[in-house]
Amino acid sequence: MRVTDLIEKKKLGHTLSDAEIQYLIDAYMSGEASDYHMAAFSMAVYFCGMENAETTALTMAMARSGCMLDLSSLGKNSVDKHSTGGVGDKTTLIVAPLVAALGGNVAKMSGRGLGHTGGTIDKLASIPGYRTILDEDNFILQAQTQGVCVVQAGGALAPADSKLYALRDVTATVDSIPLIASSVMSKKIASGAKNIVLDVKTGSGALMKSLEESHLLAEIMVSIGKSCSRNVTALITDMDTPLGNAVGNALEVEEAIAVLCGRGPKDLQSICLRLAGEMLALVHGGSAVHWEKEAVAALSSGKALKYFKGWIRAQGGDESIVENLSLLPHAKHKMEIYTPQSGYISHIDTQKIGQASLLLGAGRNKKEDKIQMGAGILLAAKRGENISKGALLATLYTDDTSFFAPAKEELLSAYVFSDTPPKDVPLVYDVIR
Ligand code: URA
Repeated sequence: MRVTDLIEKKKLGHTLSDAEIQYLIDAYMSGEASDYHMAAFSMAVYFCGMENAETTALTMAMARSGCMLDLSSLGKNSVDKHSTGGVGDKTTLIVAPLVAALGGNVAKMSGRGLGHTGGTIDKLASIPGYRTILDEDNFILQAQTQGVCVVQAGGALAPADSKLYALRDVTATVDSIPLIASSVMSKKIASGAKNIVLDVKTGSGALMKSLEESHLLAEIMVSIGKSCSRNVTALITDMDTPLGNAVGNALEVEEAIAVLCGRGPKDLQSICLRLAGEMLALVHGGSAVHWEKEAVAALSSGKALKYFKGWIRAQGGDESIVENLSLLPHAKHKMEIYTPQSGYISHIDTQKIGQASLLLGAGRNKKEDKIQMGAGILLAAKRGENISKGALLATLYTDDTSFFAPAKEELLSAYVFSDTPPKDVPLVYDVIR
């Protein structure tokens, strides 16, 4: 086999066999296939697509390119969740202890922020003392004893995906359904959970902007999971407006704590309860509706908060942030932004909100950039609200005042106002089992 022949075959829209895909990934890992080969291959996939069997073969080849975690000691209760990325998505911080409080074992590897989307690991890293890296034995032990462990996805897990993802990021080939599906599922399969709930975001702040694309992505990921004997449920959820009001690492931790304390924005709370219900239904059987009710009780009794504190403590973090939020990093400066005109907020270009948060220092432009943990945005008004000119729209936070002007411009350009209220959209569009 020759790498260039396989690229040519895909370019012409033909189907690659499992052996050919395995060969290509092995060649990429050994150095026989270089980045320029894989960039050309990714572009060929972008234009010609892949059959489901090819996407599954690519998933498995990337999963097998590194170590495959064995979570069998967690029995049938191991459960993972993955979001395809959004703005203000801090659901893992709430859902993981909530599910643990009801008997699930959430052993999860999470990523850093990517482009305009935030990363769970960056949010957790804003908690003083929290260790984002643990060895495999301690990772599994903590998931057993505390019910939750969330660490940074490292190089040992699906390294072919890490390499290919970094390449796709700079070759305009991120938004290809088979490449996203195989990237997400290779990490999920390699990290060992028996049960997986996928939160496929749709809308202006998501990778998949249309409902149709989100459906295709969700369906292929569920089918890959099935063919690997995993129980997978995918929810298609709204990302046409930021989730909750906080965008930025420590600000989002603060908002997650508010939800765990029974306060916090309703949209965030509802999505978390839905995700927890689906995760617990996979673990214990029974309906997601039943488990969602149990999750409501675990949230209001304080049980989920207790598991959150146990998790943070076990991972070296300072659990007293719950009682004393001032222990979290805070930005040095803030700027209030006022509404430029009266009317209903009919649309928020959510990617631009994520971009504004990045401009404030809450994310990275380059891999090696250092994040300002207290930077970000608190939204004072969301889609559908009727607000008057001059009312508070959002507050920006940063350590560097020169970041305010570009962030303000980006933020204001995200809003569309109208005289009539926009149509209501559901928080969860569909569930694929
Ligand atoms: N998240 C991933 O892990 N991979 C992708 O390709 C896109 C989003």
